[in-house]
Amino acid sequence: MQYEREFSNWDRLSVSLPDPRTLVPISVIEQTLNQMRDEGQSRYPLLEFYPTMAAIRFGDFAAEQVILDDELVSRVAEEERVMRRPLNLEQVIRLALANTANCVRPGFSADALNDLNRVFYGRNSDEFTSVMVGSIPLQKALAGFIEAEFEGKTIRVKELAAGANVYKRWQEVDRNLPAGKQVEVVATDFSTNTLPNPEQLQFEAGQVSMTAEVYDLSESMQPVDSQDRFDVMLASFAFDSVWQSGDITLVKFNDKWYQELYRLRVHDRWPKRDEFLAVLRGESVTVDFEREDFHRVEVERILVPFKPDDHQFGRDIIEHYRRASVARFNFPAGIIRRVEEAFEHQLTDSGIFVILDCATNDPWGGMIDPTGQKGAPNEAFEKVGALDRFKDAAYYKPENFNLAAKILQEHGFRVEVVLVNDFIAQNGDEYPEVDQFGPNNWAMIVRKA
Ligand SMILES: C[S@@+](CC[C@H](N)C(=O)[O-])C[C@H]1O[C@@H](n2cnc3c(N)ncnc32)[C@H](O)[C@@H]1O
Repeated sequence: MQYEREFSNWDRLSVSLPDPRTLVPISVIEQTLNQMRDEGQSRYPLLEFYPTMAAIRFGDFAAEQVILDDELVSRVAEEERVMRRPLNLEQVIRLALANTANCVRPGFSADALNDLNRVFYGRNSDEFTSVMVGSIPLQKALAGFIEAEFEGKTIRVKELAAGANVYKRWQEVDRNLPAGKQVEVVATDFSTNTLPNPEQLQFEAGQVSMTAEVYDLSESMQPVDSQDRFDVMLASFAFDSVWQSGDITLVKFNDKWYQELYRLRVHDRWPKRDEFLAVLRGESVTVDFEREDFHRVEVERILVPFKPDDHQFGRDIIEHYRRASVARFNFPAGIIRRVEEAFEHQLTDSGIFVILDCATNDPWGGMIDPTGQKGAPNEAFEKVGALDRFKDAAYYKPENFNLAAKILQEHGFRVEVVLVNDFIAQNGDEYPEVDQFGPNNWAMIVRKA
């Protein structure tokens, strides 16, 4: 199976860790910080480990990425003055974790990246068209899929986390539907800013009609009347951009389980720091932000021990990975919950839930290199450099889809996990001339069993 092959890569990794008892005099920390700033580096990690399992363990937790700033330097200096000796690495890291001065929230959490995500999309939603929305072969295949799967004249579709440019997808579907077929689309996203404008909802052939409404993926799906139920629920690059309750990143190392938690920290010397902190905390501010501004936010990461009873699907997860001594992955609890709710409250009995989310085959568990050098999975995302920040932890691997699929199957669903390219080949009239998806993009297709 896919995930077993991936695990074997881990076994070849060996990393030497610094000893937490190493002394780190304030002069060294100060010098490091200044040197990095002189070199124009925007990231100031005191501690940064990739891959994830190479983290310094301190008994009750492990630190993976901790950020260095002026506030920390003055705290360390003060501590050294009181103690009259340099601190060791563990003491410095504990002070760094207690340094909440420029953090969006003081604590570490699984869903901290949502704060960044909302602000980013709330301001930039119309500026890019992802490959999932922009790919003509994929939209043709969607038209073919709708035609092949549903006999009725009018098909109702609800799209989740659709984004402001979703009308482009449906314009293409509109051009490719066979005569006589009508598709009514309800495009949803978390705010009116992230949905198309009413004047954009024009479709040449007139076979597609669209309305837009606000639906936040963090909310449960409410029951709709039977005549308003949908035939298709569609989500592309959606569940990997939104941290829902139960979505977690887990690490298994030396047969021990850890959960990764995050905290957002804004660069302390950046002139827009206060405004950016305010907006990330959900306050309204008048300042404009550029895309580059989003690079002024760092994601700090720690690992805490994870036990099976800590999570609704903890036992399934641990059983699934029992033969791996090392693993790192995101578990998509939100997909499972929303799929179940959709079939209970909003989809017809013959309805289909299609999830075209990013996935990766990367054995590092989908972590993006924090320097951004590793590249994003597609052009559109590469242009949106800021996305690197929350993609830090957002990718799903096929094995994550497979585990979610297994759980959904046990709950009475029929699930296929297929390459997006195969979905196109099966439903479209052409294989993409330029391979836009490759081996990293997967689709999950769910029906009632
Ligand atoms: C990567 S974009 C994908 C957009 C589009 N579906 C596509 O495939 O290009 C992620 C989308 O998630 C939306 N989003 C972010 N947080 C959300 C939430 N809590 N509920 C619903 N949508 C959300 C964003 O506004 C954005 O449109």
